[in-house]
Order: sequence, then C-alpha cells, then structure tokens
Amino acid sequence: MSVFDDPGHFGKLWASTYDNPSLPDPSQAVQFLAEVAGAGPVLELAIGTGRVALPLAARGIAVEGIEGAPEMVAVLRGKPGGDTIPVTVGDMADVPVEGPYSLVFLVFNTLFNLDKADRQADCFHNIARVLRPGGAFVVEAFVPDPAAFDRDEQVQMRSVTEDSASIRLHQYDRAAQRFVRQTITFDAGGVHLAPFAMRYLWPEQIDELAAAAGLHLEARYADWTRSPYTTDSRNHISVYRTRE
Ligand SMILES: C[S@@+](CC[C@H](N)C(=O)[O-])C[C@H]1O[C@@H](n2cnc3c(N)ncnc32)[C@H](O)[C@@H]1O
Repeated sequence: MSVFDDPGHFGKLWASTYDNPSLPDPSQAVQFLAEVAGAGPVLELAIGTGRVALPLAARGIAVEGIEGAPEMVAVLRGKPGGDTIPVTVGDMADVPVEGPYSLVFLVFNTLFNLDKADRQADCFHNIARVLRPGGAFVVEAFVPDPAAFDRDEQVQMRSVTEDSASIRLHQYDRAAQRFVRQTITFDAGGVHLAPFAMRYLWPEQIDELAAAAGLHLEARYADWTRSPYTTDSRNHISVYRTRE
C-alpha cells in the first residue's frame, strides 16, 4: 500500500508543526461559513487542528468533523473548546457519519489530498448523502497553474542554517493531474523525507464531480469576501447545493 492511501499520512508527518504563524487567518472563512450554515449542524471534512472549526463553533454553531489523523485531533483536543467538537477519525472520501447537515465544507485545497479520481468521486457522493435537502457544500481550492510546472518539475529551497538544509521537490504528472512532492531535510541526524501527493482539479471538473453526485453550483468567488471569480483568479470558493 502506498503511504498516500493512508488517510492519516499527513498528520503523522505534520501534526506537531502544523499550527504555525504562516497558516491563513480563518476569520473571513468563518464569517462566510457562518452565513451559509443556516440552522446547522455543520460538518468539516479534514478538520485538522480546528483552525476553522474552533472559531466557527465559538459562534454557537454546532460543528462536527472528520479527520484522517488522530495526531491532528489530539492537537485540536488540547485547544480551548477543542474537547466539545465531535470528531470521527476516518477517511473523508467515505464521510463516515450519518448527518443530516445543513453545511459540509472542505477548505485549504484539501479535496486534492485525495489523490485518486475514484476517491474524489466517492467523496462527493458521500457528501450528497449526508446533506439535508437544500443543504450546501463549500469547497476552497487553488486553480491549477501549469505555467508553474517548469518542465513538469520544481525545486525550491526551503531553509539553510548552519545545522541543516531543507529543499522541496515536485514532480508533476499532467495526464493524471497529480504531483508528488518531497520535502527533504539534511541535518546531523541524516536525511529526512516527507512525501506528499495531490490530484488537482480545475473548477469545471469539480463542478462535474458535484453534478454527478446531484449537487449544483450555486456560486463561485475568488476569496472568502466574495470577490468576483475571474479567469485570473488563482483560488476559488465554490458553493454547491442539493435540491430542496
Ligand atoms: C491542510 S490540512 C487542513 C486542516 C484544516 N481543515 C485547516 O484548514 O487548517 C489537511 C488535513 O486533511 C487531513 N486529511 C488528509 N487526507 C485525509 C483523508 N483522506 N481523510 C481525512 N482527513 C484527511 C490531514 O490529516 C490534515 O488534517
């Protein structure tokens, strides 16, 4: 089995360092999601350490989560309010809960952490299963930029100190719409690999997955403040709905 088939893979590598000052401020996302949530309850897929879920729950909205990595949930549990959010440890492609929810959301490009087409399709079908009639699914993702795939590979320097050096390598497979990334750190302890993969989708392909699951696109924005989505947008917030 590939490490990428393990829904807990990300957390094993990054749970201890995930919360850091470079993470996006969730305030605008929380405002947007609170407006879409209606009466609740809401479900965050891949809730992580609660960056978005905790401030959303602090507004009095009933929030639940699914998370692949127990290590990420342990960090969430250690935060104020973190023991009040029900979290099911499992694969977000399976959405292993019953619902129904007024809102399901999946932010920070994490849809693409499902690196196989069939599992992305499963995820949409299972989201539709747990949404109540007229419920919403909100996804935040980047718009792929093939111009950045220099000859289908990228090498980036991450950090250099007197004790260590870290580089990040990407290898793209355009036909599969997938990349594998290695973050490689060299230090006195040796060479450390942190593998990661994504299957990226263009917004129109996400619309097709949603439509196949019975969800229609209600709105698409360039950011959480509802800036218009244009051909130059590098990210999108898309809102899908089930039928009433
Ligand atoms: C980039 S973090 C996002 C966490 C949180 N949603 C946020 O916005 O800060 C990605 C999260 O997805 C989780 N994850 C990755 N693949 C998953 C899967 N197949 N099922 C459930 N969780 C998964 C990881 O463990 C990690 O917590």
